[in-house]
Amino acid sequence: MNTLTFPKNFIWGVATSSYQIEGAWNEDGRGVSIWDTFSHTPGKVVNNENADVAADHYHRWKEDIALMSELGVKAYRFSTAWPRIVPDGTGKVNKKGLDFYDRIVDELLKRKIEPYVCLFHWDLPQVLQDKGGWPNREITNHFAEYTRVVAGRLGDRVTTWFTHNEPWVTAFVGYFLGEHAPGKKDIGAAVKALHHILLSHGLASDVIRSEVKHPVKIGITLNLNPVHPATDSKKDREAAERVDMFMNRIVLDPLLKGTSPIQESAIAKILTGKIIQAGDLEKIRQLDILGVNYYSRAVMKHDSKFPVVNVAQVQPEGNEYSGMWEIYPEGMYGILKQVWSYQPTCELMVTENGVPVPDGVDFDGRVRDERRIRYLRNHIAQVHRAIEDGIPVKGYFHWSMMDNFEWNLGYGQRFGLVYVDWKTQKRIVKDSGRWFAKVIQANGLEE
Ligand code: FCB
Repeated sequence: MNTLTFPKNFIWGVATSSYQIEGAWNEDGRGVSIWDTFSHTPGKVVNNENADVAADHYHRWKEDIALMSELGVKAYRFSTAWPRIVPDGTGKVNKKGLDFYDRIVDELLKRKIEPYVCLFHWDLPQVLQDKGGWPNREITNHFAEYTRVVAGRLGDRVTTWFTHNEPWVTAFVGYFLGEHAPGKKDIGAAVKALHHILLSHGLASDVIRSEVKHPVKIGITLNLNPVHPATDSKKDREAAERVDMFMNRIVLDPLLKGTSPIQESAIAKILTGKIIQAGDLEKIRQLDILGVNYYSRAVMKHDSKFPVVNVAQVQPEGNEYSGMWEIYPEGMYGILKQVWSYQPTCELMVTENGVPVPDGVDFDGRVRDERRIRYLRNHIAQVHRAIEDGIPVKGYFHWSMMDNFEWNLGYGQRFGLVYVDWKTQKRIVKDSGRWFAKVIQANGLEE
């Protein structure tokens, strides 16, 4: 393989999220989140697992940051847990919760790792869900208030902020498919939730800019999948276009163009009535960084068995698959190109990419995860291809730093560069972790 060198100052990072790693679910005044409620409800998560303890990062944060430093990462994207900081969703601030993130930021900076703070990675305070959750427009003000608290405390040291992780998943997997907390199955609620999440991105951006005195970069991370038709037939191509609208354009258009397919789509209008109010789209359209989370693509065919949308997903033969998705490295390039077609003026970054592998510890204590290394090599090469083509991707963050609680799929799906033994909490840097460290050091792929 050729040497693929990345631009100088390319940001190699790793990512995690609060609920998936922290544990300590009821310690130091943390409030209950919708994920506590959901995972404590039998039948919602594989094997009825929950993240009460998870990777115990709340107590092992120092050791974990030391490992990041060992890998040589330049930046760490993590999320702050709203219920840890404002346990009732609004009102009283829990100092101990804020202190936790304060210590993390200091430790990262001490180790020369840039903190990338994400304000919302799905662990909504349960009390706010009880008041309607994201489908209730009122929540946008609560989110702005919570943002003010976090920005007020961490803003003197944090430059890069993400408001939300994957609004589409929060809205549609949580409020329509019901596979994530809060487990609702109401399409109208999901469409409303999505709009309010995007609106809250705008409100929170204003808050960060007013609260933080030095120049900041504010972004959002989106789950994006290139959508391909199963065949070249007109019906399949149209099916793919509908899904592209529903999964990608529904978030990209408001953020990058100031328009919304929700307004165009007759179906969405019938389902939701008037949810976009005057001024909303202007408020939403502010972005310094667009974070692309890429895992796989969607191959779609026309299928009238599914009413309204008339589509079904196809899993093409002959490709490699993982515990969750088809492995399709070219999709990384494809989705970056699709985003670039909007001619965005903000920075682009890959904020998540990774693969679940049923890793195990070998007799000598090593975790030989060749499959992850192959996945990473092929995907990073596609990021390089995009850069060569003139798409200025600024960074690449691996999901995830360490094995963690994979939502409704529990602990079976391991995504980490670092293996976590769930019984002892022992950490082992996997072969992929050592490999990624070399990539960072070489600023690219050498083998
Ligand atoms: C993304 C999520 C992240 C993790 C990965 C596998 O959708 O942002 O928390 O679950 O998928």
